[in-house]
Amino acid sequence: MINVAVLGYGTIGAGVVKVLQTNANSIEKKAGERIQVKRILDLRDFPGDPNADKVVHDYKEIQEDEDIQVVVECMGGVEPAYTFVKTALLQGRSVATSNKELVAKHGAELISIAEEKKCNFLFEASVGGGIPIIRPLNECLTADVIEEISGILNGTTNYMLTKMEAEGVSFEEALKEAQEKGYAELHPEADVEGYDACRKIAILTSLAYGKQLDFEDIHTEGITNITAEDIRYAQKMKKSIKLLGKSWTKEGKLYAMVCPFLLDNDHPLAGVKDVFNAIFVHGNMVDDVMFYGKGAGSLPTASAVAADVVECVKHKGRHLPIVWEQEKLSLDDFGGFERKYFVRMPADTSVEVIKGAFGAVEMIRLDDVSEKAFVTDSMTEYEYQKAADSIGNVINMIRLD
Ligand code: HSE
Repeated sequence: MINVAVLGYGTIGAGVVKVLQTNANSIEKKAGERIQVKRILDLRDFPGDPNADKVVHDYKEIQEDEDIQVVVECMGGVEPAYTFVKTALLQGRSVATSNKELVAKHGAELISIAEEKKCNFLFEASVGGGIPIIRPLNECLTADVIEEISGILNGTTNYMLTKMEAEGVSFEEALKEAQEKGYAELHPEADVEGYDACRKIAILTSLAYGKQLDFEDIHTEGITNITAEDIRYAQKMKKSIKLLGKSWTKEGKLYAMVCPFLLDNDHPLAGVKDVFNAIFVHGNMVDDVMFYGKGAGSLPTASAVAADVVECVKHKGRHLPIVWEQEKLSLDDFGGFERKYFVRMPADTSVEVIKGAFGAVEMIRLDDVSEKAFVTDSMTEYEYQKAADSIGNVINMIRLD
């Protein structure tokens, strides 16, 4: 019998308990041992809940319980999760977590403690919810040099963009629905400002290159500037607006960024709707592979955490190597990277002035909108910025991918 402690009995923690208890028999066969949730840490009480008797309010009760072999961390945020997880690993207990903030910030250090203590620190659910992506990157794609990772990594914003596109609902309405469905972060700016996707692409890129990419180094823009007009323009161009977390190499340089992109409707990521996430990976040998599934929500995310618990049980006393060193991974300046841009300017901007600043452009017109909108030729971000500044008054700009 393996005893597990679950830290945090919110959307994900409660989901993990449910998965471990509902599928206890099949999980036992796969893990080789019965797995039991022994304690649950939360500040709240849960009267009437079938697991109410397992709830404790002080981490010490878990730390001092010698029967606990695996700790599941679903609290979110860096502290106190970091202190609790580090303590558990130093005690030689394996940890499974869904906490992307914790993994992005301290992943390399926590992996090295797990290695030293011959236990495991696993975090499949930290990126893409229920989608297997961490283990494939760490095991199945290790023969490749990864040249691109492009992901729809945030379920909330993808749900919102889909609703805004398909039903014309407002930004606020779409966010409210995502919150009601349990997709959104406690502070929704983590979703809509792109911070959540930023941590996730930092984790994937660190794993792809085996070094620490600090999320603070990634240029990040969210979807708060995306309006109903932008979506109508996208539809006119037969494109979709998607918030992507991307890292890629070109001519020996490594770039990463998070922002909304315009994708052609036949791009594999353009068809990813609602809360679904997808991660497109290009390796120099395997070519293109894509991973798809539910990127948020209680049970999909809990399924990945519970599978990590099974992995910890199957490999009791043995560390599963993950190459993610604490040495810093440096990014090149994306300002020098060339791409096309969709730009909207006020109606009184002259087309000659636009062409004088940007060179050849393709004008895009909506019947009932008098502003000037256009797609540029390929240019670097610096060239775009210089041209945009020379005119001023950009209403919005969205990059093409
Ligand atoms: N708020 C996150 C999302 C939850 O919407 O994707 C999963 O990390």
